[in-house]
Amino acid sequence: MAAEKASVCVTGGGGFVASWLINFLLSKNYFVHATVRRPGDAKYAHLSAFEKASENLRLFKADLLDYDSIRSAVEGCVGVFHVACPVPSPAETILNPRVEVIEPAVKGTQNVLKASVEAKVKRFVFVSSIAAVFMNPSWPKDQVMDETSWSDTEYCRTAKNWYCLSKTEAESMALELAKGSEIHVVSICPTLVLGPILQSTVNTSSSYFMRLLKGLESVENRLLWIVDVRDLAEALILAFEKPKAEGRYICMSHMIKTESLVDMLKSKYPHYNYPKNFTEVQEELRLSSDKLQRLGWSYRPSKDTLIDGVESYRQAGLLD
Ligand SMILES: NC(=O)c1ccc[n+]([C@@H]2O[C@H](COP(=O)([O-])OP(=O)(O)OC[C@H]3O[C@@H](n4cnc5c(N)ncnc54)[C@H](OP(=O)(O)O)[C@@H]3O)[C@@H](O)[C@H]2O)c1
Repeated sequence: MAAEKASVCVTGGGGFVASWLINFLLSKNYFVHATVRRPGDAKYAHLSAFEKASENLRLFKADLLDYDSIRSAVEGCVGVFHVACPVPSPAETILNPRVEVIEPAVKGTQNVLKASVEAKVKRFVFVSSIAAVFMNPSWPKDQVMDETSWSDTEYCRTAKNWYCLSKTEAESMALELAKGSEIHVVSICPTLVLGPILQSTVNTSSSYFMRLLKGLESVENRLLWIVDVRDLAEALILAFEKPKAEGRYICMSHMIKTESLVDMLKSKYPHYNYPKNFTEVQEELRLSSDKLQRLGWSYRPSKDTLIDGVESYRQAGLLD
């Protein structure tokens, strides 16, 4: 497909994950339609600096809730990577969950999918999240969690976890709507995405990681499920290019305790202001990305993710 220079659309082009995805798609000779909300804004300047961007990248002004803007962006594309979604930080107060999170995620996904069907797009790769998988109290505690687990929407609602609720509703709706339609939908459920940033703004997961270097007094010693942003971008392309890709895929490379992650960072960067106390927590849910690996996905060592991440923050002056 890449040899024919197929056109594909990436929503939320200026974000952390989408920027790497666009970079890799351009390097594979795809023509990329990237949607952004405010073309001309300095936050998207990095996109035009990518190799082949001047010939093969076109930015479209689009909001997920504006159907016509999305419809124009997907026109002429054989594939759509639906990446855009509000990603609130856990500490953020959400005053109006429906407006701030649920509608852009669910109605937004419906719009992108409907526009893709109308434009006769062949493959739709949806960036879901582990948030749509793990909020499942009925999953047996001693069993490794796989793609058969869905977050329980009532449980998410009771816990007021609007992000988990929105990703679960959006993903299940996308997979459901695709049934009986010509479009093939594949969803990827990444865990905590870390690694180098290309964009000038700081996204939620990078900000979480940076806080570990910047003087938190105490953190929970949680088991973190991490994936490198570059490995995630490769997984998305694999889901698009491999005809046998189907259904949903958990995308996680390493499970690592917070304290061990901090120890790895300390051995390379001893001078940062790391957390002093680690409080133990009970939950130890384990996940599997076997299905994605069987599709041909592989991932880099966690050390590369952490170091390349820190180096990118240093270069951007974010750790000064
Ligand atoms: N990072 C993680 O740890 C992680 C883990 C699991 C899943 N994910 C999923 O990965 C995807 C990308 O996340 P990210 O980490 O790259 O976050 P990000 O950098 O914040 O990117 C999110 C993008 O969504 C766009 N967006 C939000 N609301 C929109 C709307 N109403 N209309 C159009 N665009 C809108 C933003 O556009 P603007 O630039 O215009 O603001 C931004 O480009 C999301 O679907 C997220 O749920 C991320």
